[in-house]
Amino acid sequence: MTQPSSTTTIIIFGASGDLTEHKLIPALFNLYAKGSLPDNLHIVGLARTPFTHEEFREHLRGYAAEQIGDRFDAAKWKSFAQRLWYQARNALADEGYEQLEQFLETIESEQQANRLCYLAVAPSLYQPIIEHLGRFGMMNEAHGWRRIVIEKPFGRDLDSARELNTLLHHDFDESQIYRIDHYLGKETAQNILFFRFANTIFEPVWNRNFIDNVQITVMESGDIGHRGGYYDSAGVLRDMFQNHLLQLLSLIAMEPPASFNADALRNEKVKVLNSIRPVGTDDVVLAQYEGYHQAKHVAPNSRTPTYATLKLMIDNWRWQGVPFYLRSGKALADKVSEIVVEFACPPVMMFGREVDDECFSPNVLSLCIQPDEGIHLQFEAKLPGSVQETRSVNMEFHYRSSFGGGMLPDAYERLLLDALNGDASLFTRSDEIEAAWRLIDPVVRITDNLTDPLPEYQCGSAGPDEAEKFIIRDGRAWRRGCENRKQNKEMSGGSG
Ligand code: BG6
Repeated sequence: MTQPSSTTTIIIFGASGDLTEHKLIPALFNLYAKGSLPDNLHIVGLARTPFTHEEFREHLRGYAAEQIGDRFDAAKWKSFAQRLWYQARNALADEGYEQLEQFLETIESEQQANRLCYLAVAPSLYQPIIEHLGRFGMMNEAHGWRRIVIEKPFGRDLDSARELNTLLHHDFDESQIYRIDHYLGKETAQNILFFRFANTIFEPVWNRNFIDNVQITVMESGDIGHRGGYYDSAGVLRDMFQNHLLQLLSLIAMEPPASFNADALRNEKVKVLNSIRPVGTDDVVLAQYEGYHQAKHVAPNSRTPTYATLKLMIDNWRWQGVPFYLRSGKALADKVSEIVVEFACPPVMMFGREVDDECFSPNVLSLCIQPDEGIHLQFEAKLPGSVQETRSVNMEFHYRSSFGGGMLPDAYERLLLDALNGDASLFTRSDEIEAAWRLIDPVVRITDNLTDPLPEYQCGSAGPDEAEKFIIRDGRAWRRGCENRKQNKEMSGGSG
């Protein structure tokens, strides 16, 4: 039985990489500055780059200051930096782990100490690191809890994800494993469940009787940058759909959990993923941005998609017949993540129309994940002075105005804190990861079997024409519900 301990050590494998520099250390520093971290905390970075402790601290200071900007508190950094340590070790060699263990014992002042290992390394290193941690007994909880955080991508298909799960379960209990999907750490993604289940008014209409379709959009303006090596073997389906987009979908579509705890929540998410109908070739659009081949480490004739649209159908009582359109791509006009819920038309039309005419405009509820976080509800209002004309107006809630001007915490802050507190609700369970791969694998195979080059779209555009035609074919249109509707500002309600 683990004794409670006040000493906690975070061990970051891959300490000289982008993720540590841009996300993990700024997030840990922010948590430290807010007083949210355990008192007796150490952070040990491990990588092959030769740094002294002092050089490592100085190196990270620059990144933290840059990420945090004006709010960077130099005095607090100075005391935070005293908790940072560095170990230049080879994570593939046995002696690296012996030396690490010895070092940890020297900095942890008591025998009882909790440890969180964070794998911020290339996926090819997951297996050897996990094996070593198991072999050296580093996940044994006799002297404090032991947890492991694993970054995405978790596997590159169902088989490899299963292998990784089997390997992990050899030495770790599932409760020690935290598979991260940073979308779940975003405030606005977490708010989906509060929006649905902390209110009375939305849930009764949250089903096939009232909702016509759901659109989940995660657009990026950035291209693949210097990540050609990884991206060309992953593509948008593995990089974004298997994880972030399916996670958003499961939050929107899941049944209310029996309680707000990790297992109850994840049980419901798994049920949704398992109810999604296998995706057919006609339900997919794949494309590539112009000039993709010129990026470093991209194969000259690569057919890796940088854009995809999927139509998913969920075969259960709540969602039967309601299409979920998912789209994501790189090098597009905007960086925006949003979920649009389009409601069905009223059953009978009046106001100068025939009873079975189309409605003016359907009601649209938009959950704006980023950048302008909030919720918009579009509905029809009578145009003043007209007899029976309407105009679509927007009721808006914005985090910025409702909760003050402060920045929303970064997803990594919440996730790191949850992992330290032992709350796995926002992490993906083994069966959930496997269910997502089971769905995405056949779609990836469609790409693998292509003989023609993919359709191209212009960088900075809204995406390929094929994606427009795809939804028009169903008699629908893509919606951008989170765009500011200046023309309706004077009529907008809510707090925004
Ligand atoms: C990562 C992907 O998981 O998510 C990147 O690997 C992508 O390719 C990023 O750019 C998007 O995250 P966010 O938080 O910027 O929307």
